[in-house]
Amino acid sequence: MAFQMICSSIILLIFVTIPPLTEAILDPHYYDKTCPQAENIVSQTIRNASTFDPKVPARILRMFFHDCFIRGCDASVLLDSTPESKAEKDGPPNISLRAFYVIDEAKTKLEKACPRTVSCADTLAIAARDVVALSGGPSWEVLKGRNDGRISRANETINLPAPSFNTSQLIQSFSRRGLSIKDLVALSGGHTLGFSHCSSFEARLHNFSSVHDTDPSLNVEFAESLKRKCPKPNHDQNAGQFLDSSASTFDNGYYKQILAGKGVFASDQSLYGDFRSRWIVESFARDEGLFFSEFAASMVKLGNVGVTENGEVRLNCRIVN
Ligand code: HEM
Ligand SMILES: *[C@@H]1O[C@H](CO)[C@@H](O)[C@H](O)[C@H]1NC(C)=O
Ligand SMILES: *[C@@H]1O[C@H](CO)[C@@H](O)[C@H](O)[C@H]1NC(C)=O
Ligand SMILES: *[C@@H]1O[C@H](CO)[C@@H](O)[C@H](O)[C@H]1NC(C)=O
Ligand SMILES: *[C@@H]1O[C@H](CO)[C@@H](O)[C@H](O)[C@H]1NC(C)=O
Ligand SMILES: *[C@@H]1O[C@H](CO)[C@@H](O)[C@H](O)[C@H]1NC(C)=O
Repeated sequence: MAFQMICSSIILLIFVTIPPLTEAILDPHYYDKTCPQAENIVSQTIRNASTFDPKVPARILRMFFHDCFIRGCDASVLLDSTPESKAEKDGPPNISLRAFYVIDEAKTKLEKACPRTVSCADTLAIAARDVVALSGGPSWEVLKGRNDGRISRANETINLPAPSFNTSQLIQSFSRRGLSIKDLVALSGGHTLGFSHCSSFEARLHNFSSVHDTDPSLNVEFAESLKRKCPKPNHDQNAGQFLDSSASTFDNGYYKQILAGKGVFASDQSLYGDFRSRWIVESFARDEGLFFSEFAASMVKLGNVGVTENGEVRLNCRIVN
């Protein structure tokens, strides 16, 4: 009986530890022999670019999220449109996806140092870790060995979660990628960095519903300040709001703002309105160290989404080989 139990646990263990054949196995030491300087090259490029343009960290972090949510972390977000096919980066929510040149710079240096070795998808994953660390957030060991995909389609950005989503819709969107409610709440903390244009939240400010002109989950004074920035009907195309009051520092301020009714997107604020996520929001608002360690763990999970062995190491991140 005991022997049988041991046998079946071994069988269970084998099933659990052998991943499906289509899934590439990522490894923190993947480039140790083939390109030991890979991470240094990326980190230096990111540091330099962020000094020239402080918007770079937020843009790179968001780019990684979009990459992983569409076709998995395969650098599909980096491909340019071709005459035959409009790429992801030219799909609708592209408005602040704009730091592609930084990845190009890193990739050019990587190709000089170790030709045909480091994938664009890994370059972006390393860059996403670096921008968080550089902004005062946590750091983590990046798993590597991703392949670059050959397909990028503008119409697939429809599968990104929208800022109007409620927590049920967010949970569904994340669980389709194998990400939990904790991952959802932790990764939404990426909104501690960066900026949003009015178009992403103005539906909350004017004619919100038949009952409320303004989204009632918004803090009243905060809603007034957003309305001044995004007046109806006309406002500057570039107008908008920083996602957190310390938008260039990676901290837990995002969660404190949500507790105060100052989440910029309906999706952010809804995490506090739903009992399944509220307690996690509260614990991250209370304990920045906890947020940092959970964010790091969830970024590693995000980096595993849809990773496959089908693909290539692109030579230029904008075009397939
Ligand atoms: C949970 C679902 C999410 C939704 C609905 C969402 C939605 C958005 C929207 C609408 C914007 C503003 C775009 C604009 O108007 O310019 C934005 C910005 C941003 N998002 Fe998210 N996002 C989500 C999750 C994430 C995740 C998981 C990360 C990273 C871990 C992330 C990182 C960012 C960053 C850094 C910005 C600022 C970009 C900049 O300043 O250029 N977001 N997000
Ligand atoms: C630093 O960044 C600037 C602006 O992007 C770029 O022109 C320059 O070539 C970079 N220098 C290095 C050493 O990467
Ligand atoms: C964003 O997408 C729109 C179409 O949805 C496209 O016309 C525009 O050129 C894109 N903008 C950028 C900066 O890629
Ligand atoms: C995007 O367009 C392609 C054909 O161009 C189609 O096969 C695919 O189903 C579309 N995907 C979505 C999400 O609409
Ligand atoms: C979330 O939104 C969906 C789609 O609009 C709706 O069907 C659902 O009832 C909403 N759930 C909650 C809890 O508000
Ligand atoms: C507000 O929304 C309703 C229904 O969605 C619409 O009929 C009405 O014209 C809108 N009012 C304004 C001032 O835009």
